[in-house]
Amino acid sequence: MTVPETTTVSAHKDTSDALRPHAEHAFAAELAALAAADDRPRPARWLLSPWAVARYLLGGTLPDGTVITPKYVGPRRIVEVAVSTLATDRALLLLGVPGTAKTWLSEHLAAAVSGDSTLLVQGTAGTPEEAIRYGWNYAQLLAHGPSREALVAGPVMRAMTEGATARIEELTRIPADVQDTLITILSEKTLPIPELGEEVQAVQGFNLIATANDRDRGVNELSSALRRRFNTVVLPLPATADAEVDIVTRRVDQIGRSLDLPAVPDGVDEIRRVVTVFRELRDGVTADGRTKLKSPSGTLSTAEAISVVTGGLALAAHFGDGVLRPADVAAGILGAVVRDPAADRVVWQEYLETVVRERDGWKDFYRACREVSA
Ligand SMILES: Nc1ncnc2c1ncn2[C@@H]1O[C@H](COP(=O)(O)OP(=O)(O)O)[C@@H](O)[C@H]1O
Ligand SMILES: [Mg+2]
Repeated sequence: MTVPETTTVSAHKDTSDALRPHAEHAFAAELAALAAADDRPRPARWLLSPWAVARYLLGGTLPDGTVITPKYVGPRRIVEVAVSTLATDRALLLLGVPGTAKTWLSEHLAAAVSGDSTLLVQGTAGTPEEAIRYGWNYAQLLAHGPSREALVAGPVMRAMTEGATARIEELTRIPADVQDTLITILSEKTLPIPELGEEVQAVQGFNLIATANDRDRGVNELSSALRRRFNTVVLPLPATADAEVDIVTRRVDQIGRSLDLPAVPDGVDEIRRVVTVFRELRDGVTADGRTKLKSPSGTLSTAEAISVVTGGLALAAHFGDGVLRPADVAAGILGAVVRDPAADRVVWQEYLETVVRERDGWKDFYRACREVSA
């Protein structure tokens, strides 16, 4: 009998035309330059020192002139606490409202620390224990009984044996009894395999990053036993409009290049407009603090601003004159604001007539919004 050659499904190859390459591939050159310049002590199995990981996330220029692009725009201290937590025996919990870069930061942390951001469990209401622990290759199991060969390690188990960073997305969506699987893993650093009478012990370098949504609070609140194993870092919304414009501009530029959208150089005014609208509606007050507003039901996050602008760029590139115009973003904004067709529409109309219409230089935008709102 011949044993079929195993095919590796996981994407450790550098597939350069991947629609969305993993961070460790997309930023391989930056990571290599950092590793070369990094002479500080590295925790066991870390590819970089904590200092260099923070530099990778926050950006900067290396002594040899290599420019490291900022990945996370926000308080330096947040990044420092997150990175140093990973060098301790406590796991890291990134908490925040949607679109505050929890997933983004977790991916880049794993890429910089372990060179592998793919040891990932996506948390849902249906996530089974096997997704966190291990499963079985049933053909092997039936043919030979339970054995190490029949066991299919999950991402967390692999991170334990490789001394790497595991990631769990949306931890609080996972049912409480499944979450509790993590307690032994995080406190004892072992994963029992009762079927084999064995256990897997985590080696140095293993740690875990979980993300959880503020808005899911109460869905499957973390048990206090589990919460104690985590250091929680709360990610804030961008503090200023300038910071948010900066984040959106950077990401849109990156996404635009990966989608081969023609560069749209003069889009900054429109980006600032999208960010202003989102921030004013989110905050319930105009930027000058003068007019109170009602907030719609959607989150109007930075991430949504990024998709509105990316959608606008595609319109401008393929159906416009290549310059991002008010009409290219109006429909996207409407779609993000009006989630609930009744209540949100009222909020939007009020904002349109009392704020947008009266504002200097917003005539074209007002007209474009009227056209799509009709
Ligand atoms: N402070 C920030 N710094 C850098 N990028 C940010 C920031 N806030 C949001 N983003 C961008 O917005 C998107 C956030 O999406 P994501 O990480 O999926 O959010 P979350 O997981 O918190 O819901 C990413 O594309 C990220 O680049
Ligand atoms: Mg997320």
